Amino acid sequence: MSRLAVIGAGYVGLVNAACLAEIGHDVALVDVDRSKVERLRGGSVDILEPGLEELVRANVSNGRLLATADYEEAIPAAEYVMTAVSTPVGEDGLHDLRALWGAVDSLAPLMSSGATLVLLSTVPPGTTDAAEARLRAAGREDVFAAVQPEFFQEGRAVQDAWSPPRVIVGCRDRARGAAIAQLWRREDVPLLLTDPANAELAKLASNAYLAARISFINEVADHAARVGADITEVAHAMGLDPRIGSRYLSAGLGFGGSCLPKDVQGLSSQMRAMGGEPRMLDAAFAVNQARPEAVIRGLGEHLGSLEGKTVAVLGIAFKPGTSDRRESAAITLARRLASTGARVRATDPTVGPDEAGAVAAEIGGGIEVTDLTAATEGADAVVLATEWPEFVDLDWPRLAQRLAGQVVVDARNVLDREALHNAGLTYVGLGR
Ligand code: UGA
Repeated sequence: MSRLAVIGAGYVGLVNAACLAEIGHDVALVDVDRSKVERLRGGSVDILEPGLEELVRANVSNGRLLATADYEEAIPAAEYVMTAVSTPVGEDGLHDLRALWGAVDSLAPLMSSGATLVLLSTVPPGTTDAAEARLRAAGREDVFAAVQPEFFQEGRAVQDAWSPPRVIVGCRDRARGAAIAQLWRREDVPLLLTDPANAELAKLASNAYLAARISFINEVADHAARVGADITEVAHAMGLDPRIGSRYLSAGLGFGGSCLPKDVQGLSSQMRAMGGEPRMLDAAFAVNQARPEAVIRGLGEHLGSLEGKTVAVLGIAFKPGTSDRRESAAITLARRLASTGARVRATDPTVGPDEAGAVAAEIGGGIEVTDLTAATEGADAVVLATEWPEFVDLDWPRLAQRLAGQVVVDARNVLDREALHNAGLTYVGLGR
């Protein structure tokens, strides 16, 4: 077993730290947020991620997972120092690496001789080599850098961490790369040991490809609406071809979250900055940004002007199974609806009454955040924006009685059209 330090207790850092501690390693989890560190020490986790809190609690209490705000406490003993700080895109569209460089500068003098810095955060190609150069510039000839991109999906991160479809480690020294992969004690998982730039670009290109698939099917969905086709049937038919496959072909409101939008932008900006022409990436992003208009069009066809109309938006989180609201398409839609003069009420199973005011302030635009009953009471229309099972399986006849209007826009194409019709509601899908 090894001694590890993980820098950053966000989704990536926390899941990795908890799982590696569960395997038996001694893990110090470092975060600058002292109150978060205190909560973690008490075994409590701020994010909704199935199985994570149990892992954190068990490994904090058996002493293998130590949360700290103190680099000196974590770094000198670590054989592997893993960075999981956030790498958002900046004003220029490029990944903003300031948090990463800040961390590298702090830990460089503290790393033990022979230790490896492992970048877990999503970073543009060239970053791992730049990190190693930074370590050298700090006088460290005796420590090394590698990258192990994280591929888990939020909402199933622990499950994905235990059995990922593949593991990619980018390290110029293959034996060192293999040792990093070996920390996980995984069997039967395809492992690719490669150069850092390959690993970095594979991660970004994977997210960008998933995003491009979603935008592709959304563009076709708009055409399905024109020609009277049903995009869910079309996507199903396409997916039966094993060369295409059926996943990431669900048309609707488009992609959100902290990864896909930022990684499309970051990759496209790096390409452009280096003389490339990111035509497909830019199109994927532009199609996605226009998705709320498909909902506005659907509502407009039935309600005319939205000025003064009350619209209930079901869903605030960027996808079901998570409380993460970052770059949520549901929020973008709610704001866009409010900009048309509609009165917007939003609701989400992860936002309780205690948090509703703060979430409303975060969303802005005068959007009310409330529970499902209050959101739909007297509403002229309902938009399903996040396909939580409790929304998909709603008692539609009962809901219909609370509404003032009949229109339900299924912005994720998951509702049972027949059931809604039978409840006297007008079903509007996006491309079906
Ligand atoms: C994404 C990738 O799927 C992970 O592999 C990657 O590790 C992660 O980013 C990351 O870089 O950290 P995640 O952000 O959890 O994971 O989100 P996804 O489950 O991929 O969904 C992204 C968005 O696409 C959601 O808004 C979802 O509603 C939307 N989506 C997904 C569609 O609109 N249609 C689809 O067919 C699939």
